[in-house]
Amino acid sequence: MLKKLQRFRFSQQPCWYLVHGGPAAPSLSLEELEPLPELDRQSSSHFYFQAQTSTLFKLVRDKYSPREDFWRWLGRDIISKRLTGSYDAYKEFTSRRILEGLGQNTVAVRCYGVALNFLNPLGSLYAMERLDNCVTGHTYFERLDEARRSTFIDTLSAQVTELAQAGYYHRDLHLDNLLVDHQQRLIWIDTHVKALPASAKKRQALLDNMLTNSRIDGSGYREQLRARLAPYF
Ligand SMILES: Nc1ncnc2c1ncn2[C@@H]1O[C@H](COP(=O)(O)OP(=O)(O)O)[C@@H](O)[C@H]1O
Ligand SMILES: [Mg+2]
Repeated sequence: MLKKLQRFRFSQQPCWYLVHGGPAAPSLSLEELEPLPELDRQSSSHFYFQAQTSTLFKLVRDKYSPREDFWRWLGRDIISKRLTGSYDAYKEFTSRRILEGLGQNTVAVRCYGVALNFLNPLGSLYAMERLDNCVTGHTYFERLDEARRSTFIDTLSAQVTELAQAGYYHRDLHLDNLLVDHQQRLIWIDTHVKALPASAKKRQALLDNMLTNSRIDGSGYREQLRARLAPYF
């Protein structure tokens, strides 16, 4: 991964980021990027689009404001995220690499980086290919009949099990954090994988939490998922 300083224009504001990008990634122009308020409304991040390279920029806002909560902002957003390098986009990048290593489908990453200006509240930047002709896992699941929903749960559990066997789990596993393409392939987006804890009690709590937040409608399907995953958690 090459490291460089790059300027982007989000909503007329030029902002500098220290970005890491692969040599094969298309070069991203510095032109004005198109905001996507409809995506912002569904998520906690801010999205911009560059049509020329079909690149979706995901920017994560700092949790605290230096004016309102200076010490928390300094401790969490600046010291423990930006300065140590463990900002959201970095975690997304490394998580994606783990899933890719297992042969699971992920989104091509163009670059990821961190804002140079501490006062730029959009500290974390992740630029990826925008996947067209896909639907979110939730929309896909809603459209299926019962038999196909059950098959989908099996596919999902096989991938989560494979990750658990490699020693990891999805910190935020839910149906809007994956897309399904027109070949019915499951594609992981918004990846954040963490090492499974050694304690059986903690693993059990993780599984409970995962099922509660899964956005899978229907307790029967959630129980099906639990039954498949329980031996690995
Ligand atoms: N690469 C992508 N291609 C197409 N749509 C995407 C892509 N990444 C995210 N989205 C859409 O944006 C929504 C929010 O993205 P996500 O990465 O989950 O943001 P957040 O971190 O705020 O939850 C997803 O549910 C999906 O609909
Ligand atoms: Mg998400």
